[in-house]
Amino acid sequence: MYADRIRNLPPYLFAAIDKAKQEARARGVDVIDLSVGDPDLPTPEHIVEALRRAASDPSNHQYPSYEGKLAFRTAVANWYQRTFGVDLDPNNEVLTLIGSKEGIAHAPLAFINPGDAALVPDPAYPVYKTATSFAGGEPLIMPLLRENRFLPDLDAISPADARRAKIMFLNYPNNPIGACADRSFFRKLIDFARDYSIIILHDNPYSETYYDGERSLSLLEMEGAKDLAVEFHSLSKTYNMTGWRIGSVVGNADVVAGIAKIKSHIDSGTFAAVQDAGIVALSSPKEFVDDIRRIYKHRIEILYKALKDLGMELEKPRATLYLWAWVGGSSIEYAGRLLEKTGIVATPGVGFGRFGEGYIRFSITQPTARIEEAVSRLEKMGK
Ligand SMILES: Cc1ncc(COP(=O)(O)O)c(C=O)c1O
Repeated sequence: MYADRIRNLPPYLFAAIDKAKQEARARGVDVIDLSVGDPDLPTPEHIVEALRRAASDPSNHQYPSYEGKLAFRTAVANWYQRTFGVDLDPNNEVLTLIGSKEGIAHAPLAFINPGDAALVPDPAYPVYKTATSFAGGEPLIMPLLRENRFLPDLDAISPADARRAKIMFLNYPNNPIGACADRSFFRKLIDFARDYSIIILHDNPYSETYYDGERSLSLLEMEGAKDLAVEFHSLSKTYNMTGWRIGSVVGNADVVAGIAKIKSHIDSGTFAAVQDAGIVALSSPKEFVDDIRRIYKHRIEILYKALKDLGMELEKPRATLYLWAWVGGSSIEYAGRLLEKTGIVATPGVGFGRFGEGYIRFSITQPTARIEEAVSRLEKMGK
């Protein structure tokens, strides 16, 4: 019945975890779900109110435009200017997405012919690899290793592989690791991509969840980046809007146009009222994001200490919503034992690729009191 494309596909990581959670709940376990990066804090009221208003405007009830409202795209461009000092032309360098996952999943269809290759980090958000395969491409794995500060070793990519690659996916601040990239890596990356004519698809939904005072970067801040790169961005994590499904891809106009063309044959745009509310979100006072950051930072501190006390090897994440802890051995078995002993659901690292094996990812998107409860269960569990 099914095409090879889905017969060869593993279950989506979080769908499989959902099943384990449901089974535990059915057994009466008080599950603390630290598996998914889905902010527990509600969308701020001024954004919800903007949606209420926009939803009752009949001009928002018809098909939206394929590329998104110019007003939304302008709000994205203004946000990029304010946040990163990056200039974007809302007319051709910004495209509205139905969440960044949608754009990431469709992007390879615009650039990959069957047999072409895509450079894909591992461990990583699983969509990069599957989207490449859906387009008939071959993912070429770039391991993210601790000894390289969890950055891909560009010198280790063979010239033959580099020549075959049409696109490269990257993601900093990184899910699942929490690592960030610095300017010198981005500089080297752009030179590498230029040498081999590789399009860079940089996924940047965690740019605003950083904790050590130093803001995180947009790849587009680097000189020459716009010649060959686009960046995916999302309102999901910055404004607690995962359920709203709105994001954008920005940067190189030809790359943006390719993704727009694919999308115009697949979907019919993002609900216009959600875009109106998105404009309000993107114009929110900076203090609002600062407040969220403070809450996350506190949660990271307490969970980090508990995991360290348990003997896990980990670094405090500089950004993102995740702690990435080395436990050694099978991460699936470890996650199973953790659920059994504590009722805590965490994500086995191998779910993000084979270089994630031996690690467990803990998300901090549960209320602080639940994270404190998780900490006390971890303390009881002992080493
Ligand atoms: C690295 C990364 N990229 C993209 C997404 C998708 O975000 P959204 O589709 O909600 O914009 C996520 C969500 O967890 C993510 O972790």
